Amino acid sequence: MITVTSRYTFSAAHVLSRTDCSDEENERIYGKCANTNGHGHNYGMEVTVGGEIDPRTGEIISRDALDRLVSEQVLERFAHRRLNDDPLFASEVPTAENIAKAIYRLLEEPIADGDGVHLVGVRLVETARNFAEVGEER
Ligand code: NI
Repeated sequence: MITVTSRYTFSAAHVLSRTDCSDEENERIYGKCANTNGHGHNYGMEVTVGGEIDPRTGEIISRDALDRLVSEQVLERFAHRRLNDDPLFASEVPTAENIAKAIYRLLEEPIADGDGVHLVGVRLVETARNFAEVGEER
């Protein structure tokens, strides 16, 4: 199997807090990220697709098609939004881990072409110091 990875960026806001926790407890768990005013990130996102090379095109997947899918499924949904307001995070705190997992779920089906092309992993880069990864065999 060969993989290709495309990089994207989007800006979004979030608050890290559980609605069933007190302010004190949220601050103990999430530190300043629990501040109810929220804060933004310029997220980086890396989408890795695996499969065999199509001998006609020399590619696993058309980058143009991948860009369109990512745009429709993820960027239009999350960019310039408060992630806590998305139904995907109604019962999950939008941490880097949970955002990566949500993106994986949004892309998994649309990318699979039934012919071996599939989503291998998603990396969500939250800050210069941390990222979260989700994917098969990880
Ligand atoms: Ni944050």
